[in-house]
Amino acid sequence: SEGQTDAAGGAHLIVVSNRLPVTLEQKGSDWSFKLSSGGLVSALSGLKREMSFTWVGWPGKDFGAEDRTKIDSLLQENSCSAVYLDDETAEQYYNGFANSILWPLFHYHPGEMMFEETAWDAYQRANEAFAAALAAVVKEGDLVWIQDYHLMLLPRMLRGLLDRSGRRGVKIGWFLHTPFPSSELYRILPVRRQILEGVLAADLLGFHTYDYARHFLSSCTRILGLQTTGESVDAGGRVVRVGTFPIGIDPSKFSEALQTAEVRGRLGELERRFAGERVIVGVDRLDYIKGVPQKLLAFEQFLSQRGDGAERVVLVQVAVPSRGDVEEYRQLIGSVNELVGRINGRFGTIEYTPIHFLHRSVGFAELVALYAVADVCLITSTRDGMNLVSYEYVASQAQRHGVLVLSEFAGAAQSLDGALIVNAWNIEEVAGAVAAALAMAAPQREANFRTLHRYVAKHTAAYWGTSFIAELTRVRHAADAAALL
Ligand code: ADP
Ligand code: G6P
Repeated sequence: SEGQTDAAGGAHLIVVSNRLPVTLEQKGSDWSFKLSSGGLVSALSGLKREMSFTWVGWPGKDFGAEDRTKIDSLLQENSCSAVYLDDETAEQYYNGFANSILWPLFHYHPGEMMFEETAWDAYQRANEAFAAALAAVVKEGDLVWIQDYHLMLLPRMLRGLLDRSGRRGVKIGWFLHTPFPSSELYRILPVRRQILEGVLAADLLGFHTYDYARHFLSSCTRILGLQTTGESVDAGGRVVRVGTFPIGIDPSKFSEALQTAEVRGRLGELERRFAGERVIVGVDRLDYIKGVPQKLLAFEQFLSQRGDGAERVVLVQVAVPSRGDVEEYRQLIGSVNELVGRINGRFGTIEYTPIHFLHRSVGFAELVALYAVADVCLITSTRDGMNLVSYEYVASQAQRHGVLVLSEFAGAAQSLDGALIVNAWNIEEVAGAVAAALAMAAPQREANFRTLHRYVAKHTAAYWGTSFIAELTRVRHAADAAALL
């Protein structure tokens, strides 16, 4: 039945994230939904095809009472439910604290971090609003799975409300979609204790890679003085499990799309358009962690090293606009535009444009066709929790067996054997890897593709979600332990 899952042993599952899978758009007096971008939404949407759950999140802006009623019923049809925040709180919580403090810090960009008390206050208020909304619907025995760095105080706040009303049998999980940085960096954060204590009220904490989990555990030891093992924290007598659960995609969504007339038609058009040229594809939210400037510089270096008469190579870079209210993101747009202009000016001719730069979101069919047409996918993140674009490229390459060039600073580099792994900061090395990728012989490409595809096909979004939920169901809850005394 609705909300029941096998992996959850029949318990009702509630998933909580800042971003909902749909973003609301007003058309006249009506509302319509657009699919949200980002790895969290992609993975959880993939999981939703396997497992049912109620998805609770922020609808992206505040609405008046009348609109809320309408939006609530629209969301309910998609088993989603909104937590409304006033615009001032949302701005300070989302742009101010989550995106200007935690995001840069967790991605090793402390230079971009601006700690402000007002943002911290708003982060607490927003987490409280989520806790209150959840406490109103969570029932004894439910499983609550909280997502990401936006909601790190929520496990503790929710636990407090549930305990006070006697609901001690609710299990709470929390998963981080970003890296967790080295404790040497994490300890810069003025509210480092509160944030750790916030998540430690959960029963199970999940990370993409063993390194991130290890950094978290050593932060608990160094900052809170807690005892840890390789897979748990002793939080004052309560054992909190810490595990690694690498996220994935729903690969069938891509292989099925490639069978549709729409994608095949578009792929045919792109093949004709790029006849006689080799294609490198890049797909990133326009975020400073994605290393887009490094990618452009490496492509420039690659172009400058080619002899006259070499085959033409184009880079198609989709840059999905993201977090435009934050200053660092706006600056990035300026510097990326400048680089694209300079490189196209330097190497372009009337017949040939080296970089096709799309600073907008593209539809799913277009995205899949682009992945499928490309000989190489180039990912140069300077830090990235996992990076699902790398998985999506593999899922779209059954025909061509294209080459994945992947930054060692993306979580995916730990799992994706068969990719060419590069140090994204080393422009020369990335340029060399692009040349090697384009020159790679078919048997080697096919062997690499088989290895990559085996991993992507097994470690899906559904596998990630069901493993986490199965583990959450298993972990001993504080109340169970107390009952044994
Ligand atoms: P991040 O979560 O940092 O954005 P990922 O690479 O993990 O990075 O995930 C990006 C996700 O966003 C991918 O699943 C990708 O398909 C998706 N995406 C990219 N462009 C669009 C788009 N135009 N519309 C919807 N989703 C998109
Ligand atoms: C990353 C974060 C997600 C976030 C996504 C898109 O993947 O881990 O929590 O949803 O980026 O960013 P946005 O700020 O638009 O939600």
